[in-house]
Amino acid sequence: MLQRPRRNRKSEVIRQMVQETHISAANLIFPMFIVDGDNQKTEVASMPGIFRYSIDNLLREVEVCAKLGLMSFDLFPNIEESLKDKYATESHREQSLYLRAIQAVKKHFPEVCVITDVAMDPYSSDGHDGLVENGEILNDETLEILGKMALAHARSGADIIAPSDMMDGRVGYIRQVLDDNGFTNVSIMSYSAKYSSAFYGPFRDALKSAPKFGDKKTYQMNPANQREALIEAKLDEQEGADFLMVKPALAYLDVIKLLKDNTELPVAAYNVSGEYAMVKAAAQQGWLDERRTTTEILTSIRRAGATAILTYHAKEVLQKGWLS
Ligand code: PBG
Repeated sequence: MLQRPRRNRKSEVIRQMVQETHISAANLIFPMFIVDGDNQKTEVASMPGIFRYSIDNLLREVEVCAKLGLMSFDLFPNIEESLKDKYATESHREQSLYLRAIQAVKKHFPEVCVITDVAMDPYSSDGHDGLVENGEILNDETLEILGKMALAHARSGADIIAPSDMMDGRVGYIRQVLDDNGFTNVSIMSYSAKYSSAFYGPFRDALKSAPKFGDKKTYQMNPANQREALIEAKLDEQEGADFLMVKPALAYLDVIKLLKDNTELPVAAYNVSGEYAMVKAAAQQGWLDERRTTTEILTSIRRAGATAILTYHAKEVLQKGWLS
């Protein structure tokens, strides 16, 4: 045998020397949930270790994360049912919880990167990402609302706008609105290939944002499709996206690789709530080694081609030194 691949695995030093994929704090984005009120910190039942924070506690948490080198945050609001309406007006109301949260984080920690989610669902009385009329999700009418939302986020100090709604043409529309208003430096991280996935279940619990009727299959992608992701990716690129995202991550590693091979833009992947919940549940039962499972998952997502990973594990892996 001339080739004995095991020789490159014979010691820890050599294994590390030939290791192809690494993850550091710089690659991680921490999604965080916000609620109204003071001194609130309530755990999401289906996501052990993940909390909804009021703004004061959010700031404390961001400070802890920043000390760990975790500098990027994707914020999501839990909105009271009484503030929701058909047009998601709460999503761009001045002084709303979400806008105050963005402002507070950027004011106290100007060096961190705040990523904001653009979609109607947390604010919509229908629980859909777009405007609903007679049971249908209207595309072009939704764009206007998304544009207002993105502009409000930019005015509040958002560094990156992340449209997660999957309406057609939204990246170009939002880019235009931002540029017309002088926000040429605000980036867009597009949820390019966002699948209609069962793995979002715990997130919808966290925000109480589940659709009130039907499902999201007329806008989110069919999990059976790979090539369709290229159509979405190409459009987003043409429309001015700065990052392309694949979501979920673990069940869609092939899609991450496909986008990586077909774009020069950085590809991000969202290791979603259900993926997190599965690991936590199995670890609690003692059925999986949590450290090894978590790092293996994150490494696989990077290996597939993701530059940045949005993950609920972000703080824990850094705090516990699991990446070293
Ligand atoms: C909403 C949105 C969702 C997620 C991020 N933004 C849920 C959905 O589309 O229903 C899911 C994130 C997760 O599951 O962790 N537009």
